[in-house]
Amino acid sequence: MEHHLLCTSSSLLLLFLFSSVPITSQFPFGSRKQAYDHSNVTCIESERHALLQLKHGLKDESNRLSSWIGEGYCSWEGIGCHKITGSVLKLDLRNTVPLYSDEDYHCTNCLGGQLTPSLFNLTNLRYLDLSVNNFSTFQVPTFLGLLKNLRYLNLSGAGFHGEIPHHLGNLSHLQHLDLGDSYSSPVWNLLSTKDLGWVVGLASLQGLVLFGVNLTAAQDGLQSINMLSSLTTLDLHSCNLFIHPHLSHVNFTSLASLDLGENNFNNYTVPPWLHNLTGLHDLHLGYNNLSDPIHGLFDQMTSLVHFDLSSNRFDASTLKSLCNASSLTYLDLSENILQGPIPSKIGQLSKLTNLLLSFNKLNGAIPTNLWQLTKLQDFDVRNNSLTGVLSEDHFAKLRELKSLDLTGNSLALNVSSSWIPPFQLQEIGMGSIIVGPRFPAWLRTQNEVEVLNMQNASISDAIPNWFQVLCDNITSLDLSSNSLTGNPLEFKQLKHSRYASREVSLSSNKLDGSLKSFPLDISDLDLSHNFLTGHIPQLEDGQTSVVHMLGFLFLNDNRFTGTIPEDLCKLENLSFLDLSNNLLSGRVPLCLGNLRDLWILDLANNTLSGQIPSSLGNLATLCFAFEWK
Ligand SMILES: *[C@@H]1O[C@H](CO)[C@@H](O)[C@H](O)[C@H]1NC(C)=O
Ligand SMILES: *[C@@H]1O[C@H](CO)[C@@H](O)[C@H](O)[C@H]1NC(C)=O
Ligand SMILES: *[C@@H]1O[C@H](CO)[C@@H](O)[C@H](O)[C@H]1NC(C)=O
Ligand SMILES: *[C@@H]1O[C@H](CO)[C@@H](O)[C@H](O)[C@H]1NC(C)=O
Ligand SMILES: *[C@@H]1O[C@H](CO)[C@@H](O)[C@H](O)[C@H]1NC(C)=O
Ligand SMILES: *[C@@H]1O[C@H](CO)[C@@H](O)[C@H](O)[C@H]1NC(C)=O
Ligand SMILES: *[C@@H]1O[C@H](CO)[C@@H](O)[C@H](O)[C@H]1NC(C)=O
Ligand SMILES: *[C@@H]1O[C@H](CO)[C@@H](O)[C@H](O)[C@H]1NC(C)=O
Ligand SMILES: *[C@@H]1O[C@H](CO)[C@@H](O)[C@H](O)[C@H]1NC(C)=O
Ligand SMILES: *[C@@H]1O[C@H](CO)[C@@H](O)[C@H](O)[C@H]1NC(C)=O
Ligand SMILES: *[C@@H]1O[C@H](CO)[C@@H](O)[C@H](O)[C@H]1NC(C)=O
Ligand SMILES: *[C@@H]1O[C@H](CO)[C@@H](O)[C@H](O)[C@H]1NC(C)=O
Repeated sequence: MEHHLLCTSSSLLLLFLFSSVPITSQFPFGSRKQAYDHSNVTCIESERHALLQLKHGLKDESNRLSSWIGEGYCSWEGIGCHKITGSVLKLDLRNTVPLYSDEDYHCTNCLGGQLTPSLFNLTNLRYLDLSVNNFSTFQVPTFLGLLKNLRYLNLSGAGFHGEIPHHLGNLSHLQHLDLGDSYSSPVWNLLSTKDLGWVVGLASLQGLVLFGVNLTAAQDGLQSINMLSSLTTLDLHSCNLFIHPHLSHVNFTSLASLDLGENNFNNYTVPPWLHNLTGLHDLHLGYNNLSDPIHGLFDQMTSLVHFDLSSNRFDASTLKSLCNASSLTYLDLSENILQGPIPSKIGQLSKLTNLLLSFNKLNGAIPTNLWQLTKLQDFDVRNNSLTGVLSEDHFAKLRELKSLDLTGNSLALNVSSSWIPPFQLQEIGMGSIIVGPRFPAWLRTQNEVEVLNMQNASISDAIPNWFQVLCDNITSLDLSSNSLTGNPLEFKQLKHSRYASREVSLSSNKLDGSLKSFPLDISDLDLSHNFLTGHIPQLEDGQTSVVHMLGFLFLNDNRFTGTIPEDLCKLENLSFLDLSNNLLSGRVPLCLGNLRDLWILDLANNTLSGQIPSSLGNLATLCFAFEWK
């Protein structure tokens, strides 16, 4: 079917405006792809004009809107049209790849500038997404309240400032409103409202995100939100709510997802009206200093699957009572005051995929029931006082495990050198537990490791050759404070890691031999306190034209000889350079003074000679220079 529709007269346009074609149901909200092939639907001149005016007002450094030329606007980037009328239904200018262009973190891919009121001429607009852009210093335009047909409005992480215009309350068809911050955006909104009364007008609202909106002056805002009976998602994370929201009668009982995290309520009880939200799937109460036990809260919440109680002051009785919430798959009680042993009732939570109990005071042995949680993917008990020896049997059923953090407990891992674990871990935290004395041979079976912490793990062994291969995929490696021997590892640049950075620490071991090169994507390299010899490497050919990530370089307390290579001056992100306690000689390269970010430079206890390069005086931020022998 093809529709040939040339520029419409306004009467034809009106015809379609008032037709009741049910477009919403087939309209893929959130989809990045344009839903229809519009190439043969030509323009409604006023809408084309409105779009061009919009473009004219926008700052578009990376030319994202380069396709916005010619007649057929329906095929322009981000535009979705009505199949028949050619009227603009969707304007999706979300920035999916926020690129930084320089060290000042300027977002090149972000659209900025001013939203022109011509938007108002897109009379049929149902979907407007301006998220992850940079409209810094601009307020949310009041004329958005005139886009009466809007179903979806997303201004998340777009840099808008100031008071939210109450005019948005006129959008009675709106189903999703996101004015929050976005972790994927380099720019944050700075919005506030003195009175949330306007939301009452949003009678069709299903999702409301006010993450990060300052509600200091609208402490009773929840009363207004409570009028929205079709609400299924409510995000009030980090809204400066400090007065405990009191609701005498809960209206939004269809809520499936509620986030009240990071609000510092001045009342330490969980709001009692939560009991009535029996349909909740996701509940976030983290970072609120809540402490009163919440027994019985979950007896009726039989659909709760995701529960975040992190950074509060709950004790072990809360963990015990939660063991009855058998629908849970995700439980985060990290950074609370859980004490005593992990209750063996934990085995009742047979659907658990994530059990996060780090930074508590749990002690005793990990109960055997816990090792029967076969769905577990992420188990984190970092920084507790758990005791015991873990063997192959413990892990036998944990096939799904991806992340295991046992760091900072009195635990020991005792497995045979031929152990083939049932899991493939991506994150391994075994710092300050006993893993050695042999280098753990089972690591060789783990092909997906990205984070490995076996710092201070009592390993007294040579680094095996096969580990070199594994390393190439690791973004964070800490094997410091063991007694590792052999050559330092050679790090190859990770593939596909334009912005990824790696941290590597092998400090305080017994490594000898020399260092071959500095990999391009390592941001933090610590090889201090070993027995490394030879010269500090030059950058390899071809490396010099590329910007190095290296910001922290610790080669101190080794036996490096030769001069300080001038190549170090090309590490333009270098902020911390420690070469002290080596056998370096010769002059200090003058060009070190060109490193603008350098703020710690330690060259003490070498046999350097000559003058202090006067260029070091350029280092405005330098706080510790160097001593001469
Ligand atoms: C647009 O219309 C022309 C003329 O009818 C036709 O040849 C062409 O295939 C159509 N293009 C699309 C993409 O439908
Ligand atoms: C956003 O825009 C403002 C004003 O133009 C500018 O100062 C700021 O650096 C930009 N932020 C980013 C992350 O690009
Ligand atoms: C909207 O369109 C009308 C004509 O339909 C035009 O007169 C008016 O200037 C337009 N407004 C904007 C802001 O583009
Ligand atoms: C709004 O956009 C942000 C960032 O693009 C996204 O994370 C969020 O899910 C969107 N909100 C809604 C309600 O779709
Ligand atoms: C829209 O909302 C504003 C502020 O709440 C109000 O003053 C105005 O009358 C409303 N306009 C329409 C057309 O409803
Ligand atoms: C939030 O708004 C209040 C006034 O309503 C103001 O005093 C406070 O500084 C704001 N907080 C932030 C973090 O902007
Ligand atoms: C609950 O909704 C009803 C109407 O739907 C309204 O009359 C009542 O005021 C609401 N209750 C609260 C506490 O907002
Ligand atoms: C919760 O539900 C109970 C029973 O349905 C009802 O009596 C009570 O008033 C409700 N409480 C709130 C705060 O809505
Ligand atoms: C805290 O909230 C509970 C439940 O709403 C209430 O009973 C109690 O009085 C409040 N405590 C304070 C100190 O406000
Ligand atoms: C957290 O709650 C405790 C009481 O449970 C209180 O003593 C403490 O001051 C609170 N901390 C903050 C930051 O509000
Ligand atoms: C590194 O990662 C790639 C891609 O995920 C994978 O194919 C490869 O097997 C991994 N190599 C090692 C040694 O783990
Ligand atoms: C100087 O460095 C050497 C290693 O090169 C070390 O043995 C010695 O203890 C260091 N001296 C001082 C005073 O730190």
